[in-house]
Amino acid sequence: MNSPEDQKHRQIVLVTGAARGIGRAIAIRLAEQGDDLALNDIDAEILSQTVHQLKESGHHALGLVGDVSDLKAVQDMVAKVVEQYGRIDGLVNNAGIGGVGKTLLELSLEEWDEMLRIDLTASFLMCQAVVPHMLTQGRGRIVNISSITAIMGVAGSTHYAAAKAGVIGFSKSLAREVAESRINVNVVAPGLIDTDMSRKRGIDHQSHLIAWPRIGEPEDVASVVAFLLSDKAEFITGQVLSPNGGACM
Ligand SMILES: NC(=O)c1ccc[n+]([C@@H]2O[C@H](COP(=O)([O-])OP(=O)(O)OC[C@H]3O[C@@H](n4cnc5c(N)ncnc54)[C@H](O)[C@@H]3O)[C@@H](O)[C@H]2O)c1
Repeated sequence: MNSPEDQKHRQIVLVTGAARGIGRAIAIRLAEQGDDLALNDIDAEILSQTVHQLKESGHHALGLVGDVSDLKAVQDMVAKVVEQYGRIDGLVNNAGIGGVGKTLLELSLEEWDEMLRIDLTASFLMCQAVVPHMLTQGRGRIVNISSITAIMGVAGSTHYAAAKAGVIGFSKSLAREVAESRINVNVVAPGLIDTDMSRKRGIDHQSHLIAWPRIGEPEDVASVVAFLLSDKAEFITGQVLSPNGGACM
């Protein structure tokens, strides 16, 4: 049961790539603090499990199956959120694909384009669809998920690093465009986090860089995102926070 104080701060937040991993942890964290959610993923089956689990626990969660790099799908999903909840207070652009571990000379143009489309262009499309609603509301919070790879570079990830570095530049410029309207735009750039994505790549290839005596858990990222979406972060915009266990200082 939420206290009256919690109710006052209840936000409508759209999280992309929310079926599993970091996005799922963000959804659970926000739901636990009383926010109402719209959860996107391209994987309908796993998304429905996550949405079902949240609803079973008494939370409000609208499932949105769709590809975040598809303009029409993005516009339809945002329209559904506004139809259901009447507004959008927060947007977390988390959906993404990982690097395939190929060097520059091994990468095809198709792989490069796909990476840029899903890990960078999708944030542009989502922001373009959501920001008009936030401008009307005179308030909004956007968190875009980048990666420590954008800051440090990782061999075999030129396309991933380029997309995730693009997210940082995109977010800083957008932050300046919309600050006047009290819309915060920040970036979270996680280090190595234990998810399906990092397991696919091989969890060990970066773990030796971490100073803290463990690798990251999705909840380590979720708590940073929850902070940036909260009123406590009102004066923070255009920043990059990197939960990475000291892998990069
Ligand atoms: N795991 C890590 O170590 C790590 C580190 C730094 C940054 N990140 C970033 O964090 C975010 C989440 O990563 P994760 O580790 O939880 O990955 P994950 O693969 O476990 O989950 C990503 C989710 O995004 C969804 N998705 C992929 N493409 C999509 C699309 N086009 N439209 C809608 N949904 C789509 C997938 O179906 C999946 O459910 C990604 O942006 C990733 O690049 C992860």
